[in-house]
Amino acid sequence: MLTLKNYKDPFLRRTAKPADIKNITTEIINEMTELMYANRGIGIAAPQVGISERYFIYEFNNQINLIINPVIIEKSDATDMQIEGCLSIPNIYESISRPVMVRVKYIDLSGNEIEKQLFGLESRIFQHEYDHLDGKFFIDYLSLVRKRMLKPHEAKTDQIIF
Ligand code: CO
Repeated sequence: MLTLKNYKDPFLRRTAKPADIKNITTEIINEMTELMYANRGIGIAAPQVGISERYFIYEFNNQINLIINPVIIEKSDATDMQIEGCLSIPNIYESISRPVMVRVKYIDLSGNEIEKQLFGLESRIFQHEYDHLDGKFFIDYLSLVRKRMLKPHEAKTDQIIF
């Protein structure tokens, strides 16, 4: 059984290695999806469940997307702010600035290469999960001052856990 890793675990700071499609089983994907939903998340990356490989899943428009070996090939200069939470950092919600648009490339489970332009929330989810593959958390974008002032609190219903 896979379990969620917490931000205190140095494992989450590793740079994950390229994923091998053969290792991505239906069982793993099902367990990751269950953990994501059980914790009210909309995305979850393999390192968060102890697998140091470059893939993640996210839900958008009621559809589950599996993203393998992603590359962000372009980011817009335009940014926007939105409050983010993270499955690995319980009860912390902070407003984070990110590019509005990203152009991305990845492969699906059949090995097909897919290139897409993502906007808004989907772009943000992708960037947040992508960061997990490089051992990065959303709170890394905060200034030291804002980091020191972090106060855990329960999620409000409109807050999104990435
Ligand atoms: Co996260």
